Amino acid sequence: MSTSPSNVQSVDSSLRLDRSQIEAAVALLRQGGLVAFPTETVYGLGADAESPAALDRLYTVKGRPKGHPVIVHLASYEQLENWAVEIPKAAWKLAHAFWPGPLTLVLKRSARVLNAVTGGQDTVGLRVPAHPVALQLLKAFGGGIAAPSANRFGRLSPTRAEHVRADLGDDVSMILDGGDCQVGVESTIVAFPEGQPVILRPGMISAEQIEAVLQSDSLESSSGMQAESRASDHIESRTAPAPGKTSVIHAPGTLASHYAPRTPLLLVSSDDLNEKLTVAEGSRIGVLALQFLPQALAEQRGLVWKVMPADPEEYARQLYAALREMDGQSLQQIWVEEVPNDGAWVAVADRLKRAAYQG
Ligand code: TXA
Ligand code: MG
Repeated sequence: MSTSPSNVQSVDSSLRLDRSQIEAAVALLRQGGLVAFPTETVYGLGADAESPAALDRLYTVKGRPKGHPVIVHLASYEQLENWAVEIPKAAWKLAHAFWPGPLTLVLKRSARVLNAVTGGQDTVGLRVPAHPVALQLLKAFGGGIAAPSANRFGRLSPTRAEHVRADLGDDVSMILDGGDCQVGVESTIVAFPEGQPVILRPGMISAEQIEAVLQSDSLESSSGMQAESRASDHIESRTAPAPGKTSVIHAPGTLASHYAPRTPLLLVSSDDLNEKLTVAEGSRIGVLALQFLPQALAEQRGLVWKVMPADPEEYARQLYAALREMDGQSLQQIWVEEVPNDGAWVAVADRLKRAAYQG
């Protein structure tokens, strides 16, 4: 496979792409190449999930330690049984309710799943993404596409084709441009240790939404669904294990430092913001704020001030692009005003906490 710059293509389309572009992408995947593609959450760096050579290259380009599992993307929920076994009823319900969509299910792997995908674990992460271009690609490819976010390991996830290009350059055979990602933060990950759902990573599908689906009888009458012990009545969130406690589930993605800009990032409470700004006068600080500051005042204090949306979904959509923009301005620090401590903000708060980690 060639990785010459001429092979790095970008296709402008806000939604569906030409068949020829999809065919070219499929051909590259079949040759063991890496194709970056848009999903509704973030851009993924795709490889044929059944090709050890392609997966090897994926890990190398991503700079990701082996043993860190990747999500397999599928075209439809009917493919679930090819990739997972002993699927709990709760998982069927969630797949039925949220796919295509920003939800990853961690299930017991089937025999076809390679160790390179799971990092040797006996579970596999599966997701049917909602972006039309991702679905076009997955349908045309037919098989599973293993795809981590299309950034180098530990950096911010890309939410635009240009972010992928900036991060991965010629290391990727092709970049399918599907415009800005509409969700903006990575999928909610749910695992089922002992059949009970546990959130490993919060996303825009909230614990409340998941709980509501699990409490409904939506699939009771569907055929083909394995009846088993009742789906859990509660859902536990393991995204922030209590100090000293380790999650029973191996979730390397919940590394404390992740999704980080290069510039040190500090979370600042709304109350402290003004006071800290006075002290910091003269330093080059970027601020992602919920509150407004008159432009003249920001300039006078040498601040790069960006007002973020008050709506959590809109905030999530813009978050990574805003951090990248700040990261490109040679700032000494990025300060982020803390977001509300509220269910709708859980995914954003989680990403900010990880981005702020200094350890
Ligand atoms: O929204 C998303 O999930 C995006 C798009 C591209 O689909 N993908 C994504 O992939 O965020 P990545 O590789 O950056 O993060 C996947 C996370 C990692 O934290 C990984 O540890 C976890 O999923 N994961 C994957 N398979 C797993 C498994 N079998 N058990 C536990 N965690 C798993
Ligand atoms: Mg990632």
